[in-house]
Amino acid sequence: MNILITGATSGIGKQLALDYAAAGHHVIACGRNEQALAELERTDSAHIAGQKLDISDAEHTLQALRAYTDIDVVILAAGVCEYLDIEAFEADLFARVFEVNVVGTMRCVEALLPNLKSGSKLVIVGSTARLLPFTRAEAYGGSKAAIHYITRSLQVDLARRGIKVLHVSPGFVETPMTAQNDFEMPMQVSVEFASEAIRKGIDKNKIDITFPRVFGWFLKFASRLPQSWQVALSRRMT
Ligand SMILES: NC(=O)c1ccc[n+]([C@@H]2O[C@H](COP(=O)([O-])OP(=O)(O)OC[C@H]3O[C@@H](n4cnc5c(N)ncnc54)[C@H](OP(=O)(O)O)[C@@H]3O)[C@@H](O)[C@H]2O)c1
Repeated sequence: MNILITGATSGIGKQLALDYAAAGHHVIACGRNEQALAELERTDSAHIAGQKLDISDAEHTLQALRAYTDIDVVILAAGVCEYLDIEAFEADLFARVFEVNVVGTMRCVEALLPNLKSGSKLVIVGSTARLLPFTRAEAYGGSKAAIHYITRSLQVDLARRGIKVLHVSPGFVETPMTAQNDFEMPMQVSVEFASEAIRKGIDKNKIDITFPRVFGWFLKFASRLPQSWQVALSRRMT
């Protein structure tokens, strides 16, 4: 299969690129970090091709991704996380996070969609952070709630073209993104675990790929509690 992955220079996306390449698939690994792209290509030049990509640059994203006309699986994993300091409330922080996690991700969809064939898969990486109102996660959780809604609407609208749209909700995964967190991260899993869960979910066409399972169940249950209980629960966890 031909698999295009954004966010492939680090963390979850990088592990997916390595694992799909090791299984004999052809991977187009996208990201801004040219050194990381070159390193990926060196690791498995027969199966990995690097594509420099900054999804916050509209024109460049359209130009770069329009060239790919024979993709079987698209995995949009590029993302950023910034936490809000409520005492120094900054609207620009929302702009920065939504620019990459929402608008940038949709730029990739805009560029790739015309060339996606019936039977191809569009996989969008969200987060379990969308499920509860976590402290300081106004921008990050908000962007992932937005991407979850968008993905579900795309599942409706792309069904007639035969394109499967899958949503991924990881819990805590050990990556450079979470290395900056200064709080406890329950049930954190490795990138290898995350990659396997995502690849299995894609194989089975699961429209909701949530892992680790128990963490996902707990948050999905909590998200159905009355809103005042959710706020109280999140405050207790703070
Ligand atoms: N780690 C977790 O616990 C966790 C949990 C839930 C959801 N997620 C989601 O999983 C995805 C991957 O996260 P991760 O933990 O693997 O993070 P990571 O190690 O920090 O990797 C983030 C990736 O996004 C790319 N990226 C960021 N800004 C970009 C831009 N403007 N243009 C193109 N690429 C950009 C980075 O590549 P360059 O710097 O090379 O551009 C990098 O490859 C994200 O969407 C994240 O929100 C992660």
